[in-house]
Amino acid sequence: MEFIVKSGTPEKQRSGCLVAGVFESRRLSAVAAQIDEVAQGAIAAVLRRGDLEGKPSQTLLLHNLPNLLSERVLLVGCGKEKDFNEARYREVSAKAIQALKDTGATEITSYLTEIEVKGRDIAWKMRQAVEMTESTLYRFEQLKSKPDNNRRDLRRVVLAVPKRSDLAAGERAIREGQAIAAGVKLARDLGNLPGNICTPTYLAEQATAIGQRLGLKVTVLDRADMEQLGMAALLSVARGSRQPPKLIVLEYRGGKEGEAPIALVGKGLTFDAGGISIKPAANMDEMKFDMCGAAAVLGAIQAAAELKLPLNIVGVIPSSENLPDGDANKPGDIVKSMSGQTIEVLNTDAEGRLILCDALTYTERFNPAAVVDIATLTGACVIALGNHASGLMGNNDPLARELIAAGRYTYDRCWQLPLWDEYRKQLDSNFADMANIGGREAGAIIGGMFLSRFTKKFKWAHLDIAGTAWKTGKDKGATGRSVPLLTQFLIDRASREQPESA
Ligand code: BES
Ligand code: MN
Ligand code: ZN
Repeated sequence: MEFIVKSGTPEKQRSGCLVAGVFESRRLSAVAAQIDEVAQGAIAAVLRRGDLEGKPSQTLLLHNLPNLLSERVLLVGCGKEKDFNEARYREVSAKAIQALKDTGATEITSYLTEIEVKGRDIAWKMRQAVEMTESTLYRFEQLKSKPDNNRRDLRRVVLAVPKRSDLAAGERAIREGQAIAAGVKLARDLGNLPGNICTPTYLAEQATAIGQRLGLKVTVLDRADMEQLGMAALLSVARGSRQPPKLIVLEYRGGKEGEAPIALVGKGLTFDAGGISIKPAANMDEMKFDMCGAAAVLGAIQAAAELKLPLNIVGVIPSSENLPDGDANKPGDIVKSMSGQTIEVLNTDAEGRLILCDALTYTERFNPAAVVDIATLTGACVIALGNHASGLMGNNDPLARELIAAGRYTYDRCWQLPLWDEYRKQLDSNFADMANIGGREAGAIIGGMFLSRFTKKFKWAHLDIAGTAWKTGKDKGATGRSVPLLTQFLIDRASREQPESA
């Protein structure tokens, strides 16, 4: 999709469709009023007939309004003006695209960007418009023999800015929005692929292809390499699988030589049946999404590389399946992690932490400035926070605050949970240095507590994306969540280090 910024009044635009907001009850936004005036009250007349109240997400498509150069006008309900906020803006942006998708309009000019959103500037609105457009048009049809609905006429979206002086900020925001949207699409595509296609080997091939396209160094460690490094925790998870495990390492060097990198570590469980502690059958298909942390790492690194951020970034992706087998991990098995610490595997379904702990230890060799791991780690996190916020934990509050701020800005929000010492004894084991589970209480935190034993050597944050990475039910599918958050975190880091380019 092509996105363009433009400043100028609506009546001068020769567009397939102008998009303008209407508030409740039947109150025209500034731009809608402007169009109405040129069109000699045609909009006001339609509203008076009761065709559009202005309730959130109502839409009304009008054709051939007098004195306009544009073929259509789409009015979008925006709710009460005083309630118009970030969430509403995102909702109406998506709704407008939804309504236009089945029309013949190939090119639209949206003035929704001119509606005031408290505390947010034009750049924020442009970015969100780009991201909402792309995510609303997203389809995953590569595995259907006939696409369900291939109609996709919309090719060009013009986003209006009120002043010429907003053009530069608008253009930059569009570039960032497109890079993020492409990262989100990559993460969604990988997440939606089934376990029989998206295996650890497939993920490694994709990472290699992305690396080739963007000039990154990609290294793939196989079983023998990992044995040599002593990654017995990671390898124990793969023992039940016919698919060989991989540890995928991507290096983007956009920063100064020798500058400490940011490391992103993503859980890449391409299918999690639970192992011998097998999961119930219902909804087990959704465990193909257990590699969404890995997908988010790939999406965010791709976005950072496309934006040429002046940063060094390392992506580390431990990837495996978790299946029951005669050779699989058994409850009670004790494995020795790469860090030297021993782990009693009391539940083979708590496998994410077993592959992540070795990947985190491996990450030490990059002397990272900060490490963020991203993982669909616990069902407990879904119970705690639902689908709206990712769980955030860590050992460094300034780093946690950076992630919270990036999540707020992108509306890809996370919420911090504590990793207090008091939780530590839940992981006590009679036979090893620790167990891999800690009882029913505070499950998301216990997952974080487990990982914290492997992250003492660096500033670290953990994002539990079990609730946010995919949707269930009728809209089942990967969301690409945490790509916007992570990319924004990297953008903020880059501008912090290079204030002159801000
Ligand atoms: N991949 C799952 C976490 C998960 C479960 C995410 C359901 C989303 C929905 C993870 O590997 C897992 O199975 N975790 C266990 C941990 C438990 C055994 C301590 C869980 O959450 O049940
Ligand atoms: Mn599991
Ligand atoms: Zn899992």
